[in-house]
Amino acid sequence: MTPSDRLIIALDVPSIDEAASIVDRIGEAGHFYKIGYQLFPLGGYDLARSLVAAGRKVFIDAKLLDIGATVERGVKSLTSIGATVLTVHSDPDTIKGAVAGRGDSGLGIFAVTVLTSWDQATVARHGLPFDVLDLVLHRAEIAAEAGADGVIASAAEAQAIKARFGEQLKIITPGIRPSGAAVDDQKRVITPRDAVAAGADHLVVGRPIIRAEDPAAAARAILADL
Ligand code: C5P
Repeated sequence: MTPSDRLIIALDVPSIDEAASIVDRIGEAGHFYKIGYQLFPLGGYDLARSLVAAGRKVFIDAKLLDIGATVERGVKSLTSIGATVLTVHSDPDTIKGAVAGRGDSGLGIFAVTVLTSWDQATVARHGLPFDVLDLVLHRAEIAAEAGADGVIASAAEAQAIKARFGEQLKIITPGIRPSGAAVDDQKRVITPRDAVAAGADHLVVGRPIIRAEDPAAAARAILADL
């Protein structure tokens, strides 16, 4: 995989104009963009279509969780965008519905294992008899069995997931910070190169690029590190 296929830039901004301007400024240094529900009601899907038309790859971060039949219908509609990645939560019916709905569109279904905001107290509050890493592995197993293409997981968990599931599950990892960059609200951060060494296939990077003085230079520095 080339560095530009690995790097997914999160367009976490409040308007389509800002998102389009960032894409424009990043230019050739950006090949893969994540669009989340902050932008969906504002024209995010049309932005996604225009990025695909311009030869870019798109990650739709919808984090779906619903009964299988509803997810299947929703994902079937989403295939019209031509995106490369869609996120759902790691629930068997949700994943099976998403896999049925994507049909032969080539849309990759990636399951969120455990949100990075969860800690051991959150797991306990949900009544789940696991420590956080075991819950991540349990949900990765649900994802693999239900036919997901991969999972979203922190670098701290990537190694254990790769060790158990190998190439069966691709891993997309957020919480990436080039050395010296601000940590923001990320609790555990890792450099791009170390994340790949830990087993991450793709990296999601938001603020270190989109809030940089020169987003193209920030993206290029990460590509060089990879
Ligand atoms: O921190 P950064 O701006 O690089 O975040 C990029 C992506 O990582 C966000 O779009 C979000 O999906 C995810 N994220 C996360 N945990 C946080 C903050 C963001 O996983 N605490």
